Amino acid sequence: MLFESCHIGGIDAVCPIIRSATFEGMADEHGHPTERLVQTYKTLAHGGVGIMISGMMAASSMEPYQHRQIRIDTDDCITPLADMVQQVHDSQGKIIAQIVVMGSAILLPEGENRTIISPSGVPEKHGRTVQESQLLTTAQIHALVSSVATAAQRAKKAGYDGVQFHSAHGYLASKFLTPYFNHRQDQYGGTLENRARFLLECITAIRTAVGPDYPVWVKLNCADFMKEDGLTFEESQQVMLWLADKKVTAIEISGGNTVSLPRQGPIRAIRRTKEPMYFAQYAAKAAALLKNKTTVGVVGGFRTVQDIEQTLNTTNLSFISMCRPLLRQPDLPNLWKQGSTEPATCISCSRCFGADDVDCIFHKTKES
Ligand SMILES: Cc1cc2nc3c(=O)[nH]c(=O)nc-3n(C[C@H](O)[C@H](O)[C@H](O)COP(=O)(O)O)c2cc1C
Ligand code: SF4
Repeated sequence: MLFESCHIGGIDAVCPIIRSATFEGMADEHGHPTERLVQTYKTLAHGGVGIMISGMMAASSMEPYQHRQIRIDTDDCITPLADMVQQVHDSQGKIIAQIVVMGSAILLPEGENRTIISPSGVPEKHGRTVQESQLLTTAQIHALVSSVATAAQRAKKAGYDGVQFHSAHGYLASKFLTPYFNHRQDQYGGTLENRARFLLECITAIRTAVGPDYPVWVKLNCADFMKEDGLTFEESQQVMLWLADKKVTAIEISGGNTVSLPRQGPIRAIRRTKEPMYFAQYAAKAAALLKNKTTVGVVGGFRTVQDIEQTLNTTNLSFISMCRPLLRQPDLPNLWKQGSTEPATCISCSRCFGADDVDCIFHKTKES
């Protein structure tokens, strides 16, 4: 039964439909939540989603922030975040803090006195622009690991139900895994074991910081889908096994990065490619591999309640995440729970992707 209470990745939830991390662009000038963000989460909670994962939150003051990004890199962030989480809980919602080190995947940097960082300083194409970056020193890597762990500890203090470390889509931990971006010759580059070291050190440090029972989730690419030198599915599965050994509570499987092959990135235009649930086959294989080791879920292109039910019933996957459909219809889980069999009305155009007050373009058109 889809709409029954369940326990997913260490968290009790009303259903296994998860709001995947969605950058909201709703921070104030200090990087703290605005009233609009609080309302966004309350609306999602009332709409019946099982657990919400926050938009990616800045974990380290070493790099610039994304424009209007929520910060969790200093202790003064804890109180405003705690106020927001309390309101989510008062609305019966569950919320996980997604923490990230962005590296050169950052789009609209703020804070020019800080540098954009990456494993090896390989320039990164963002459409027509090229993002230059500075190679990380070993000391900086150690400092980042420590920042990530402290950020997770702040999330716990603020009352979040868990943390998710973002290691997908070409953000820094994902970039370490990708041979195209990681040319390092030290213990953080070369073999898969070395390329996974940054991620695994972050997870070990997070676990130590938050204790053995706190939910620690990871978002991971099943593959990078690049022309050359991307992380492969075989490699990703090995990384998942290592993550399970590190007592990660749940893995959310995604895929792709900023330089994936055309239409192979994380946020695909489903109607055009006619490819819904585009990572489901990979995720199903991974969930079988990780059975009894850790909880596995998947995100990407789920648009119908029938697909969600069928996927959960026929695989070892424990949860299904959605992003864009819940931007257009935050009450979609409740609509389905009440018996609607209609697909999501989101047309996967991705015009919601932006930096300020992120919302479905159709809502904005209505407002204007
Ligand atoms: C507006 C927008 C913001 C996003 N922000 C994040 C983010 O902060 N962290 C993240 O891991 N993924 C982010 N994503 C990716 C989604 O979590 C998800 O992986 C992707 O949209 C595919 O799922 P969907 O087909 O259900 O939209 C974002 C996607 C969109 C469209
Ligand atoms: S802007 Fe397009 S992709 Fe985004 S929620 Fe609206 S319909 Fe879906």
